[in-house]
Amino acid sequence: MVRKAVIPAAGLGTRFLPATKASPKEMLPIIDTPTIQYVVQEAVDSGIEDILIISGRGKRAIEDHFDRNYELEERIKGKEDDVMYDEIRNLTNLANIHFIRQKDINGLGDAIYYARQHTGNEPFAVLLGDTIIDSVIPVTQQLIDIYEQYESSVIAVETVPRDKVSRYGIVGGDELSEKLMRLNQLIEKPTIVDAPSNLAIAGRYILTPGIYKALEKTPKGKGNELQLTDAMIELLKRESIYSQTFEGKRYDIGNKLDFIKTTIEYALKRKEFSSKVLAFMKEIIAQHEG
Ligand code: G1P
Repeated sequence: MVRKAVIPAAGLGTRFLPATKASPKEMLPIIDTPTIQYVVQEAVDSGIEDILIISGRGKRAIEDHFDRNYELEERIKGKEDDVMYDEIRNLTNLANIHFIRQKDINGLGDAIYYARQHTGNEPFAVLLGDTIIDSVIPVTQQLIDIYEQYESSVIAVETVPRDKVSRYGIVGGDELSEKLMRLNQLIEKPTIVDAPSNLAIAGRYILTPGIYKALEKTPKGKGNELQLTDAMIELLKRESIYSQTFEGKRYDIGNKLDFIKTTIEYALKRKEFSSKVLAFMKEIIAQHEG
């Protein structure tokens, strides 16, 4: 059973400067909700009750966001905005949320290694803090369903255009069904020539505890950092790993253009904004074309 999730959120957010100089990128809001709240919610909606957030220097706002704020609660309690009061209170009860700080920025693999004592001998989910996925069934739940069938690590993947493969970890393997593959290749940010497919690792994983031993054996890789993808290559020597092409739409909020697009799409999903935002968009398109 997958009971725990790990959310790495220690990165410097250099793609989003200057906003991320003093504020964590995971706290950048889509409309009114910090991105990490969507990620925590996905874990909770997948039945996870225990979440470890790997944070780092300058990330205190994330801890405060999931903590009580008595003064604020007192202020809004009983006011017309009671729904907001409930939402703010519920944030602290979503799950048991724990924090650990990554001392140096040494890559995603190093961040995950910090979770070893917390997850112990159990399989666990990993949800990258700068990706949100909109789907009917939460993607972590989709992976848990596969895990329960095979009791092996599973990675969510999606097809990306060939010219984007060098931005992602890319997988290759034997197709078991239209969406499911047993992997025999993983490569972090390959050139188009080296990429075994255009199936990209999408920021959601279920990992077996075997990943920790694999991480210990893995040398630093791309960017002189310990890469989780490289550790999974090591893990493949002893265990099977599967990939599942998930159902849903992924939003990479770590870069500015995708962040703008995500904000617009999420505004259009919200009843109170959709028609107004659409009318505004039509107006500015007409202005720009006119
Ligand atoms: C990380 C992983 C990569 C994965 C990507 C998804 O890379 O190392 O394998 O495809 O997340 O967003 P990053 O984007 O942190 O460079």
